[in-house]
Amino acid sequence: MADEGNSYHQAPSGKVAAPAGCPVNHSWSPLNDDYLADPYPIANQLREEGPIFFAEELGYVVITRMEDILEVFTNPDVYASTNVQDPVFPIGAGAADVLAAPDFDPVAVMSNRPEPDHGRIRVHTRAGFSRRRLKTLEPYIVRRSHELIDEMLAGPQPTEFIDAFAFPLPGETVFRFIGFPEADDELLKNWCSDRKAFSWGKPTEDEQVEIAEKMLAYWRYCREFTASKRDEPGDDFASELVAAHLANPDDITYREVESVIYGLSFAGHEAVTNLICNCLLSLLPRRDQWDQLCADPTLIPNAVEEVVRFESSQISWRRVTTQATTLAGVDIPAGTPIFMNFASANRQPDLFDDPDTFDIHRQNAAHNISFGKGIHFCLGANLAKLEARLVLETLCERVPTLRLTEGQDIWSSPNITFRGPEQLLVEW
Ligand code: HEM
Repeated sequence: MADEGNSYHQAPSGKVAAPAGCPVNHSWSPLNDDYLADPYPIANQLREEGPIFFAEELGYVVITRMEDILEVFTNPDVYASTNVQDPVFPIGAGAADVLAAPDFDPVAVMSNRPEPDHGRIRVHTRAGFSRRRLKTLEPYIVRRSHELIDEMLAGPQPTEFIDAFAFPLPGETVFRFIGFPEADDELLKNWCSDRKAFSWGKPTEDEQVEIAEKMLAYWRYCREFTASKRDEPGDDFASELVAAHLANPDDITYREVESVIYGLSFAGHEAVTNLICNCLLSLLPRRDQWDQLCADPTLIPNAVEEVVRFESSQISWRRVTTQATTLAGVDIPAGTPIFMNFASANRQPDLFDDPDTFDIHRQNAAHNISFGKGIHFCLGANLAKLEARLVLETLCERVPTLRLTEGQDIWSSPNITFRGPEQLLVEW
């Protein structure tokens, strides 16, 4: 495997012991059923009990308060992001065999690549997320939203909203952004789904094999696609990256270009599906706030910020210490995995008035931590918010009577980080 130390998917390192002097929680895990069902009351309680503890079930030091999360995010030399894509639990032999294919060699490029390489690569990827390119996507997102709504309105009620809308739209948007041809959308959507289960969940061995096979197929596709953009560039993100490589191969290597493309479609896919669904889950039952958005769409951007705070599609993220340090008053050794609990920080009462109330007019809703902070701050934050805004504008205009089907069970897939319903029935 090329670039051994920077392989995109690393095996999880063994479980560590609780640092001496760190309070230990013997029972809480982000995979507990009650936490998956509704993390917020429990996250609030954990924060009230203290800023830091060792979660024995998970084998991570957990921090619960915004100030400590900011401390971790803004000190990347002490708290490395090298573990953020690692499976939480060991991968079985079947999936490991699939990923041992000699041509499966994506490298860490963004979220899990340390400095100075991360900064070198990010310069080029940030350029690709320019306002100009996001602007070029707007008409596409609006057109596809209308088409998907047309199809939904022509079908039966209730409709499953994720299949009908929230899954296809973000996938197709990020594929157009990268430059993948529309003809490949169905293949690509299949390959890029379920990745959250692989790295952040607890899939069975059979599920692991199935996901690993999709990852391998998708990686092979990305390599062929990158080569096609080298031969025939277009007006897309992939062609820009290839051009940056050709202009100065030391600035961003060819393998890094392939790997950015490989990583981006996952990053830009399921979290946005969840965000769109979480917008509906937060807004539709609070009818007065939904009606206000329909009457005055200029309220939508702040409503999206409030959804990102109140019901984020990402409620945690990870780091690992590179050296001995002190965090929230506790000494922790090098090599300690850290779990930053966004769910508790986004509901911190000294930062947000009446934090458990959803309020589209909240002035400081944007001070949430859901897109991270510092050098790894989410590259797609503006794209995600643009999509959510355009989707809400279109839904408010076309289906102001939209409502959630009563009595349905809402559940999120069992994983430690991503949150959003697996099924969402709607009527109008
Ligand atoms: C609601 C949707 C999303 C959420 C909640 C989210 C959240 C995050 C978070 C928490 C991080 C880590 C930040 C840090 O370590 O400081 C991150 C990084 C990243 N995100 Fe997102 N994200 C979303 C959508 C997107 C989209 C649409 C894209 C791209 C199309 C994207 C691309 C990335 C990339 C490339 C990174 C790594 C950046 C780096 O390491 O420099 N994300 N995201």
